[in-house]
Amino acid sequence: MSLTVDKGLGNTIAADTKLSYIDGSKGVLEYVGYDIDSLARNSTFEETTWLLWNGTLPTQNELAGFTKELQSQFDVDPRMLDVVRAIPRTAAPMDALRTLVSALAHFDREADDPSPAANRRKSLRLVAKTASLVALFDRHRKGKALVAPDSTLSLAGNFLWMLTGAKPTEAMTRALDVCLVLHADHGLNASTFAARVTIATQSDLYSAATTAVGTLKGPLHGGANQEVMEMLLDIGDLSKVDQYITSKLARKERIMGFGHRVYKAYDPRATYLKTFAKQVAADTGNLPLYEMTRRIEEIVLAQPNIIEKGIFPNVDFYSATTYYSLGLDLDLFTCMFAASRMAGWTGHCIEQLAANKLIRPHADYTGPHGLTYLPMAQRTGCAGAACSCATALSGVA
Ligand code: ACO
Repeated sequence: MSLTVDKGLGNTIAADTKLSYIDGSKGVLEYVGYDIDSLARNSTFEETTWLLWNGTLPTQNELAGFTKELQSQFDVDPRMLDVVRAIPRTAAPMDALRTLVSALAHFDREADDPSPAANRRKSLRLVAKTASLVALFDRHRKGKALVAPDSTLSLAGNFLWMLTGAKPTEAMTRALDVCLVLHADHGLNASTFAARVTIATQSDLYSAATTAVGTLKGPLHGGANQEVMEMLLDIGDLSKVDQYITSKLARKERIMGFGHRVYKAYDPRATYLKTFAKQVAADTGNLPLYEMTRRIEEIVLAQPNIIEKGIFPNVDFYSATTYYSLGLDLDLFTCMFAASRMAGWTGHCIEQLAANKLIRPHADYTGPHGLTYLPMAQRTGCAGAACSCATALSGVA
């Protein structure tokens, strides 16, 4: 067996998928063959989820039935509310979500039923409940009364209702819905890969979803949208953008919301979102923030070697101002990404199980060989700071 080293797995195909197609050099993203731009313009999160799970666009009846099924699952078991209340109010929402997604399993009698039909029902529950859990936790941490779901609303509309306790406008619902459509799937990204690794061990869907939430949390993956917004607030004003960004680039620091492992052209999700974010910002009095993002983009793309490296704005760059304009707290941004990507994670898990193979790459061992085991009394300990052993690194030695 010949093994190749591929750190980061950027040159490895680890799964077949029919969910989404990416051509990173041309900036193309399709869900089941449909261009992301046409889906963002015309589809809804409910329809997109159906498409990802079934491989076709739904008929009117199919969509109506599916939407109803999702709406019937917005609510959570009353015991889940105790779990929500047991989480410290100071917890980061993504940490809370990781706990809550995992806890859902305890109240689902089908949690360990691996049949395709049960997995399909659990996927639906996971997608329907994730956004509800985010809203419930946010209200809990703010000491506000929890709001029961409204099962006449879309998933996006219900989230805003449960978050604020006020019926959202159509424009607000549409803005969130577009973000949900754009984030629903994206090939074998880190969190989807993590979900597939977990389900491939024949673990359960809740475990796979929990793994995925934990993986999405990282700032190099889903956490970047929050960092984009923090950067914008840190800059504070259009007049300060040039100085801030150029000095960051001079220090060779990364600009959050730029670059992507797969896209070496403009992220196609950012193309539509850029125009859309402007409208949302204008409607909500946040145009100055949008203008700052446009200026940042101009400065970054004007750098001599940035385009050569294939660095362009990614989806997080423009979703950040959209979420902010909708009134979401910064630390909820990644949670909304999770609520959307739950459609992709579960779809990928079902796909993985349909032709399952344990995912188990190799590590290149770089440590010593053939050492002689010494009894405790003969050990002298490691060489402290100069030693690379774990105890020295953790400062325990
Ligand atoms: N700003 C400035 N320079 C950058 C950026 C950036 N945002 N991203 C990459 N580069 C540069 C690197 O410094 C490196 O330059 P060098 O070759 O001169 O050392 C080169 O581009 C390649 O960078 P890598 O880290 O090797 O590229 P990789 O494909 O591994 O990284 C990643 C992709 C992690 C997304 C990176 O672009 C990054 O850190 N971006 C900022 C975080 C971010 O926005 N993440 C969201 C990704 S989208 C998503 O998950 C939905």
